[in-house]
Parts: sequence; C-alpha cells; structure tokens
Amino acid sequence: MRKKVTIVGAGNVGATTAHWLAAKELADVVLVDVVEGIPQGKALDLLQAMPVEGCDVSITGDNDYGPTAGSDVVVITAGFPRKPGMSRDDLLKANAQIVQTATEKAVQASPQCILIVVTNPLDAMCEVARRTSGFPRNRVLGMAGVLDSARFRTFIAAELKVSVDNVHAFVLGGHGDQMVPLPRFSTVAGVPIPELLDAATIERLVKRTAAGGGEIVSLLKTGSAYYAPSRAIVEMVDAILKDKHKILPCAAYLEGEFGMRGLFLGVPCKLGATGLESVFEVTLTVEEQAALGKSADAVRELVAALG
Ligand SMILES: NC(=O)c1ccc[n+]([C@@H]2O[C@H](COP(=O)([O-])OP(=O)(O)OC[C@H]3O[C@@H](n4cnc5c(N)ncnc54)[C@H](O)[C@@H]3O)[C@@H](O)[C@H]2O)c1
Repeated sequence: MRKKVTIVGAGNVGATTAHWLAAKELADVVLVDVVEGIPQGKALDLLQAMPVEGCDVSITGDNDYGPTAGSDVVVITAGFPRKPGMSRDDLLKANAQIVQTATEKAVQASPQCILIVVTNPLDAMCEVARRTSGFPRNRVLGMAGVLDSARFRTFIAAELKVSVDNVHAFVLGGHGDQMVPLPRFSTVAGVPIPELLDAATIERLVKRTAAGGGEIVSLLKTGSAYYAPSRAIVEMVDAILKDKHKILPCAAYLEGEFGMRGLFLGVPCKLGATGLESVFEVTLTVEEQAALGKSADAVRELVAALG
C-alpha cells in the first residue's frame, strides 16, 4: 500500500510540497485548507499532471479532515506568511491559533502520524503542535534547517564555482536571525570551508544565509519563499517514509542534548520510520555554544509570549 501524506494549508508552501511529493511518487497526498475550492482545485490540477509525469499517486483536496485519516505524515503549513518589514515573530499569535486547530483535527484523524511543522515562527509553532498533540518528541519535528543549510550551500557553491552536490552545510539553532551556521562543519568535497574561503567571505555568506528568507520576502513583496522550503520539507518526508536513518538539520524538542532541555531548536537529527530516531550531537566550541544559547533564548522568549 502506498504511504499517505496530508498537507494542511494549500497555499504556496503547501501546494508546492504536494507538487514535489507527487512528482517523486513518494506518497498519496491530501491537501487541506479552510478556503473552499482551493485545495480541491489545486489537487485536481496536480493530479492531471501525473499522466504526463508518469506517476501513479492519488492527490485530493478537502476542507475537512475526514479524507486525511490514517496519514503517515502530516505537514502543517497553514498560517500567514511574512510581508515586507515583518519578522517571523510578528506572526506568533495569529499562527499559534491556526496551528493549534490544524494539529487538533489532524491528529484526531491520524493518531499515529508524524507531524512536520513548517508555519512560522517555526520553533514556537513546533511547541504549539507538541502541546496540542501530546505526541512524544520523535513524532513532532520542524522544518527549517534543511532550508537554511540549502541556502548556505547555494551561496558556498556559487562563491567557489563548484557543484552544489559537493557542498555540505551545517546549520544549528532557531529559524530566524539567530540561526547558527557552522563553517568548520561545512565542507566542499569533504574539505572544511575555512580552508577554502577567507573569514570575511564566510561571514558575508553566513549573513546572507541568516537573512535568506527576508531577501526573498522583499523581492516578492506579497509573500515568502516556497520553492526551496517545500523541497526541504520533502527531504524530511522522504527520509521518514523510506526509513533512511538520514541525518538532517531539523527542529527537535531537546531533552538535554547540546546542554538544552524543554525547547525546540534546530539540531542535526537522524530521521527514519519512527520520525526522530536520535539527535546527532557534536562538540561545539565555546563561541558556537554561546551562539546556540542566544538562539535558544530567542526561542524561549517567543514560547513564553505564547502563554
Ligand atoms: N519553516 C520554514 O522554513 C518556512 C519557509 C517558508 C514559509 N514558512 C511559513 O509557512 C507558512 C505558509 O506559508 P505560505 O507561503 O504557504 O502562505 P500562504 O498564504 O500561501 O498559504 C497559507 C495557507 O494556509 C491556509 N490556512 C489558514 N488558516 C488555516 C487553517 N486553520 N487550516 C487550514 N489552512 C489554513 C490559508 O488559506 C492559505 O491557503 C507561513 O507561516 C510561512 O511563514 C516557513
């Protein structure tokens, strides 16, 4: 039997996630949205692309959670995106309500699912989903690090004029201006980038990575990035559905790892069929640990504001 993935929110990120998932023939897809006709219309349009793509998957859309029953993975993208001049944190209150409702209904229909939260502000929304679902930590994950590290990889590859395939990047911390890209664990064909680029260049690429989402928001003016975010979501879904034991940077609820407890933060996670299998810990320098601590403080502040 084919796997089943529900995507809540059939907007830019949600619908594009459905597109990548279907084109990879990874799972049957159910799109859910509050706006009548949008999930149905987008699902039907995408379904009609499948004969051309040669993929046998079912893609349906609904305003109700009934058809989502028994999903293996539920991706939550429902919520407002940023507009120019807004930070991710400005979205806190409005999106918390949406994520709570979406989680309640999704887990009622799919009590065994693995939740991947995408709605911003990401780390705080993961906490909303965790509290609402009551799921153990292995079944609540947030997507941000795969996207942030893909942005860092893009800039490193362009700077060194090498294939993106040769570049691995390591990003920790919350999804926001406090993210912590780690150059000494970021490599080109296995060589750490501090051996290939001077410190000023690395600093420039790190800054562009941390501001990567904002750069796109200011260009689009009416919304935020969705091609790279949705492809990053599918990387996590793929690792889970194929039980790959793949290490990817994700937001996970920490229980002592990296010296942190009781909050979601971006860390390297081993993903497989049960969701989060383990956090892949590395030893950080004093400066890196301090930067991660600052990032954690920003997440704690937002979670406290949730009440
Ligand atoms: N974590 C990341 O790295 C990352 C990257 C990109 C975007 N995002 C976030 O993802 C979210 C979605 O972004 P987008 O560009 O797709 O926005 P969008 O406005 O295009 O789509 C959001 C969709 O959610 C729907 N929605 C609203 N309330 C709902 C509810 N209660 N139930 C079901 N659907 C509901 C809306 O009708 C809309 O179709 C935003 O919060 C954005 O900031 C996160």
